[in-house]
Amino acid sequence: MQRLQIAGVDLAVEIQGRGRPVIFVHGFPLDHTMWEAQVAEFSRDFQVLAPDLRGFGASGTTPGVVTMERFADDLAELSHSLGLTAQGLVVCGLSMGGYIAFQFLRKYAALLRGLVLCNTRAAADSDEARENRYRLANAVRQEGPDVVVRQMLPKLVSEPTRRERPDCIARLENMMRRASSEGIAAAALGMAERPDSSALLATVPCPALVIAGELDQLAPPSEMRTMADAIPDARFEIIAGAGHMTPMEKPQEFNRILGNFLHSLEPRSPQG
Ligand code: MLT
Repeated sequence: MQRLQIAGVDLAVEIQGRGRPVIFVHGFPLDHTMWEAQVAEFSRDFQVLAPDLRGFGASGTTPGVVTMERFADDLAELSHSLGLTAQGLVVCGLSMGGYIAFQFLRKYAALLRGLVLCNTRAAADSDEARENRYRLANAVRQEGPDVVVRQMLPKLVSEPTRRERPDCIARLENMMRRASSEGIAAAALGMAERPDSSALLATVPCPALVIAGELDQLAPPSEMRTMADAIPDARFEIIAGAGHMTPMEKPQEFNRILGNFLHSLEPRSPQG
């Protein structure tokens, strides 16, 4: 784990392997360890980066509202500071990580070599969802991460995962408890503010992979299929039996699908 000063915050970043860079962007309110099985697998052939976003895991926190654009700027700055941008980047985001990937696409499309959208949505929040975020931010500031453990943990994995994979539940709970209360609140408020990214889908300049969980209640597969259909060059995959946390719930299946995609990407030509 390396610590890097990025845009005024101390970011903890797992960096492993050599080769073309792939950045894994975690969901809310988690950290880079949700990608443990992917870091182990793909660092054999690629340079894998898995940051703890500001406010999460072992990274520093900034108060107030942290927008999805701010997180995307952090990723761009991180890539520039490590000299990775010339080769083109694959950005792989899950859920909130996907919202961040959309903002990366909006501002830094020229840097993208591939885009992987897991268990996420292009639409902005409904008014009701936004109100829930405000309530969550207030509650977390008063009571700490217990609130997200209560409200979110039951929704993150499928029923079969809940029954058969207590290890997965324990890891998710630990990640939530490691996040700072202010970091959770700031990202919740940032998600409430995020713009609708549907119009961006037609502009994706690179191959894309869209991965859904068959039993995901938070990012329904039907909505993700519509999203994939709107991207010019996208593959769409549904992982059977998985809920919202496909890379943790079904790591072998997830890695097989992602591996096929990553190995299909041509190296970037010198012209870009
Ligand atoms: C996540 O997994 O990142 C969250 O479900 C995103 C959200 O709350 O919209």
